[in-house]
Amino acid sequence: MRIALSTGGGDAPGLNAVIRAATLAAVRRGWEVVGIRDGFNGLVFPEQYPNGGLVPLDGETVRGIAHRGGTILGSTNRGNPCHYPVRQDDGSVVYEDRTDQLVALFREADIDVLVSIGGDGSLAIADRLGQAGLPVIGVPKTIDNDLDLTSVTFGFDTAVGIATELIDRVFTTATSHSRVFVVEVMGRYAGWIALSAGVASGVHAVLIPEIPFSLDPVAALIRRREERGSPYAVVVVAEGAMPADGHRAVLSTSIDQAERLGGIGEQVAHKLTEMTGRETRTTVLGHVVRGGVPSAQDRLLGSRFGAAAIRAIADGHDGVMVALHDAGVDYVPLGDAIGRMRTVPLDCDTIQTARDLGIVLGD
Ligand code: F6P
Repeated sequence: MRIALSTGGGDAPGLNAVIRAATLAAVRRGWEVVGIRDGFNGLVFPEQYPNGGLVPLDGETVRGIAHRGGTILGSTNRGNPCHYPVRQDDGSVVYEDRTDQLVALFREADIDVLVSIGGDGSLAIADRLGQAGLPVIGVPKTIDNDLDLTSVTFGFDTAVGIATELIDRVFTTATSHSRVFVVEVMGRYAGWIALSAGVASGVHAVLIPEIPFSLDPVAALIRRREERGSPYAVVVVAEGAMPADGHRAVLSTSIDQAERLGGIGEQVAHKLTEMTGRETRTTVLGHVVRGGVPSAQDRLLGSRFGAAAIRAIADGHDGVMVALHDAGVDYVPLGDAIGRMRTVPLDCDTIQTARDLGIVLGD
């Protein structure tokens, strides 16, 4: 048995723990493991890699990597092979489906099963490859925690922990200078990171994509706090949040048609200054929340997912994603898990907790 591991999409803390666990679990069964560099690029464009686009993985190569951030294989969120952008001479872009060519490359490389470690984009590609005849197992990764059919993805715990620590730091300077701060955090179209870190650090307002917001209650809160002698406030805004009467802040759209979000923090700060007359500063946490050392939880979950992916193969599964549920790690059909974004349910207890704590949610 020859297994290929691929890490695709934005990196997330815990990726290396998955690579290590899957490798060790496969090697124990006498199987061979290779890692594909940069998503599928190592297979498609091997000439771009001086040492080849496939990295042999064994106990030696994965030693001591579980606590390292990023991915030793590299990653990319560009160049979807099932919807591959090709720029034409006239500047227009035509999208080609190269799924069958990619499956053929897997066959040429004698790869029996692909373990695809990724978010919804990478897992959708894996599902297409599966439909085209390649045995695949998915492993759910994303700091955004927006994948369906798993109670959590690895990477989320670290992102929330780092965001919480950084917001704590914003608090102390906000207090010292009696300032209002708006902290913008990643999370794409879901508010999991903003809500979790906001509640954990005890901020005064949290704006998430699931609740189109008005700034009136936020401005009223800032005024009330000033009257009460607490002239500082911290507002967390998810990058995908949008005003009820406006639209999402999109910085650019890539050739792959992916939106790059950002800028809502500055817009909110500007408006709050206008509405309250208070000096309002913006801090954008950005990629910092997904870099660096993974939390113990993410190392553990990554290890559990990586080992479970190999058990899935040993047990004859195909076309499934490993997932975490109350009873532990199990398998769900890959096709069911993709294409359905898991946003924050408005009746979940974390939202209720935020309301009970007096956190303004912009509604
Ligand atoms: O999906 C993870 C994530 O970090 C999102 O929170 C964010 O919107 C996006 O990736 C940023 O992508 P990039 O690294 O391509 O800017």
